[in-house]
Amino acid sequence: MAADAKRPDGGRTPLVQLRGLTKSFGPVVAVRPLDLDIYAGDFFALLGPSGCGKTTLLRMIGGFTEPSGGTIAIDGVDVTRLGPEKRPTNMVFQGYGLFPHMTVRQNIGYGLRLARVAVAERAGRVERIMDLVRIAELAERRPDALSGGQAQRVALARALVMEPRVLLLDEPLAALDLKLRKQMQEELRRIHRQIGGTFVFVTHDQGEAMGLANRIAVMEAGSCVQEGGPEEIYRQPKTRFVSSFIGEANVLAGERRAGVVTLGAGAGFAEAGADGTVSVVVRPEDVRLDPGADAEIRLDGRLEDVVFLGPYTRYRVVLDSGEEVVVHAGDAAGQAVGERVAVGWRRDRQRLVQGS
Ligand SMILES: Nc1ncnc2c1ncn2[C@@H]1O[C@H](COP(=O)(O)OP(=O)(O)OP(=O)(O)O)[C@@H](O)[C@H]1O
Ligand SMILES: [Mg+2]
Repeated sequence: MAADAKRPDGGRTPLVQLRGLTKSFGPVVAVRPLDLDIYAGDFFALLGPSGCGKTTLLRMIGGFTEPSGGTIAIDGVDVTRLGPEKRPTNMVFQGYGLFPHMTVRQNIGYGLRLARVAVAERAGRVERIMDLVRIAELAERRPDALSGGQAQRVALARALVMEPRVLLLDEPLAALDLKLRKQMQEELRRIHRQIGGTFVFVTHDQGEAMGLANRIAVMEAGSCVQEGGPEEIYRQPKTRFVSSFIGEANVLAGERRAGVVTLGAGAGFAEAGADGTVSVVVRPEDVRLDPGADAEIRLDGRLEDVVFLGPYTRYRVVLDSGEEVVVHAGDAAGQAVGERVAVGWRRDRQRLVQGS
C-alpha cells in the first residue's frame, strides 16, 4: 500500500487493527464484521446515528464487551481475549463515573494507586495532568461540587494520567451545553496536540466529528460505510446515507442507461457506470440561483422560502418534478418567494451514487 501523506504517521503500521470484528446480543447484530485501522496520533471519530453500534465497538476496543467474532490488535499484539486492565487503552464513559466520596485529586490518582505506582511519582503525574487539563484549583473538591464541564475534565484527567496508548471517549461532550461543548472541543484539540496521543471518540454529532477528528468512520446499522478524512467524507460521500448524514445535501433521483444519466427533474448528462437507479448529491453551497453559463446542470422550479442566516441566505426551491433543492448563497439575489427560478451547478460539484 502506498504511503498516505495525510496520515499523521505517514502510512506506517496501524496502532489499532480491527479485523472481522462483530458483536451480537442474542438476535440483535450490533456490529457486523468490520475492518478498521487506526493510526498512532489519530484523533479518530466513530460517527453514526443512535443505535448503529458505536458504543459497542468502542467497548470492544477497550475490553469491556467481548466480541462475538473477529480480532483486535493493538501495537501488533492480539488483545481480543484480554481484559480492559491488560490493554494499553483507557476509556472515558458517558456520564464520567467519578467516585463520589473521593476528591478530584484522589479520583485522578486512583488508577495509579491500583497499579502500585510509587507515591512520589503518582503525586507528580496527578499534578501534571491537572495542570494540562486546567483543573488544579479543583483538586480538593468532590464530584458533587463540580459543574458538568469540570466533571468532564476530571474524567478526562483520570483516563489520561494512566498514559494509555489509546484513549477511548464515549460521547465525551454530549452532556454539555452548546457553548461549553465548543470550548471543550478546543480544549480536547489542544490536549491531543500537547500529548501527541491517539484518541478514539464516539459521537452522533457530525459537526463534532468534523471539528475534532482527522479521520472519521461513518457507521450505519452496525457497519462502517465510509472511512476517511473530514473533507473527503464531506466532498466524496460514497452513499446517499453518508451524504445526508454529514452536512446538508440535496439528493435528486435519476436513472442511468448506457452511460447517460437522466434526472427525474429533467437534466441529463453522460457519465459511465452501471445501468440502474442513481442519485445525484450536491451541497447547498455548490448550487446557484439563476446560474451562469458555467452551470452544466440546470433545473427549473419555484422559490418556496428564503431565510437570511447571517453568513449566508438559505433558499428552498421546489422543482417541477416536486423534488426540493436548497441553495446557500452569500449574496441576496433579490428573488421573491413564489417566483419562477432556475437552479444550477457545475458537474464537478456533484457526486453520483448508485441506488436511491
Ligand atoms: N447489552 C446489550 N444487550 C442487548 N442489546 C444491546 C446491548 N448493548 C447494545 N445493544 C443493542 O445493540 C445496538 C447497538 O447499540 P450501541 O449502544 O452500540 O449503539 P450506539 O451507536 O452507541 O447508540 P447511541 O448513539 O444511542 O449511544 C442497539 O440496537 C442496542 O439496542
Ligand atoms: Mg452509544
